[in-house]
Parts: sequence; structure tokens; C-alpha cells
Amino acid sequence: MATKIQILLGSTRPNRRGESVARWVYELAKTRTDIEVELVDIGTFNLPLLNEPEPAGGGTYVHDHTKRWSAKISEADGFVFVTPEYNHSVPGAMKNAIDYLYAEWNNKAAGFVSYGGIGGVRAVEHWRSICGQLQMADVRSQVMLMNRDDFDEIQVQPKPHHEQAAHAMLDQLISWSNALKAVREG
Ligand SMILES: Cc1cc2nc3c(=O)[nH]c(=O)nc-3n(C[C@H](O)[C@H](O)[C@H](O)COP(=O)(O)O)c2cc1C
Repeated sequence: MATKIQILLGSTRPNRRGESVARWVYELAKTRTDIEVELVDIGTFNLPLLNEPEPAGGGTYVHDHTKRWSAKISEADGFVFVTPEYNHSVPGAMKNAIDYLYAEWNNKAAGFVSYGGIGGVRAVEHWRSICGQLQMADVRSQVMLMNRDDFDEIQVQPKPHHEQAAHAMLDQLISWSNALKAVREG
């Protein structure tokens, strides 16, 4: 079965830069022959602030929004987190969506495409720590986009070195996504 990679669009604001970034990554990933790619817009799942009575580790969900979200994330072998940096950390809506689930993230790979005043790097450092708790394998190569230099208003204007970095990240992500299938099946 083809390896399934989801591009997680983590910004939910109207007028978000994240949408053009996620679409760029999605189109670029689709040129790869070795994967199936899907763009997953967290905002469309309409997740309220975490309202499940049990922590996600138990895997018992009472709300339909959680069941829908769980079913979607369960489909993937690996993820590209498209993340802005908010107040030197991760965006709250995306963290809330991540917190809804646990086993669905375990033993899967994650790569990062970030943007911000200094490329969103502080958000990615925090994501890496969160991924450790979720038993996710976060790959080293990442893409960093500068608000001032790499956007025309909210439209991303990626340069050739961003494209190279994105392919390097995808190489590692696909490799680890493939390898971790065996861990999940074992
Ligand atoms: C709540 C909030 C906090 C922000 N904090 C930071 C920050 O700490 N560092 C940074 O580089 N940019 C920060 N920004 C600016 C964002 O990089 C910029 O608004 C970006 O477009 C946000 O991504 P989005 O448009 O996809 O939501 C912040 C923006 C918001 C809305």
C-alpha cells in the first residue's frame, strides 16, 4: 500500500498565511511518485476546546467531532505540520487538535514547514518536544519561511532553496513513515 502523508494546515484564522503555504507543500508533495498525499485543514473539523471527558490515551471518544478527527488521522503514515509561530510557540488551535488524540499519532513520522518573523523556528522546537511525548519520529530537515521575505501579503513566494529543503524533508519523512509501518504492525 502506498505511504499516506497528510499535510496538516494548522492555522485556522481568516486571512491566514498558512493556507497558501499548505497548498504549496501539497502541490510539491503530489509530484512525488512514492506517496499518496492529502491536505487536511484542521479548521474544517470544527473542534471545540478539548471537551472529551477522558484523556486521549484511553482511546474512548464520546463526541462525533473527535471520532471524525480520529478517523482522518488514523489513515496517515506520516504528517507535514504546516505551522505558524504564535507568541514564540505553537498555535493553540493546532495544539488543541493534536491533544484530542494519542494512539493515532504514535509511531508515525512528522516533518515541519514553518513560517514567521524568523521562520517559525521557535514553534518547531516546541513541536519537536510535543512529538516526543506522542511517540512520533520528527525528521531533521525542515522548511522555514520568513514573513518579510518569502510572502507577497499572505501568498507564499517560495524560493528554489525552499523547494530543495521541502524535498529533503519529504525524503526523510517518507523513509521514516515507511519504516514505522513495521513498528505499528509488530
Ligand atoms: C496570536 C499571534 C501571535 C504571533 N506571535 C508571533 C511570534 O511569536 N513570532 C513570530 O514570528 N510571529 C508571530 N506572529 C505573526 C505571525 O507569524 C503571522 O501573523 C503569520 O501570518 C501567522 O500565521 P497565519 O497567518 O497562518 O495564522 C503572531 C501572530 C499571531 C496571530
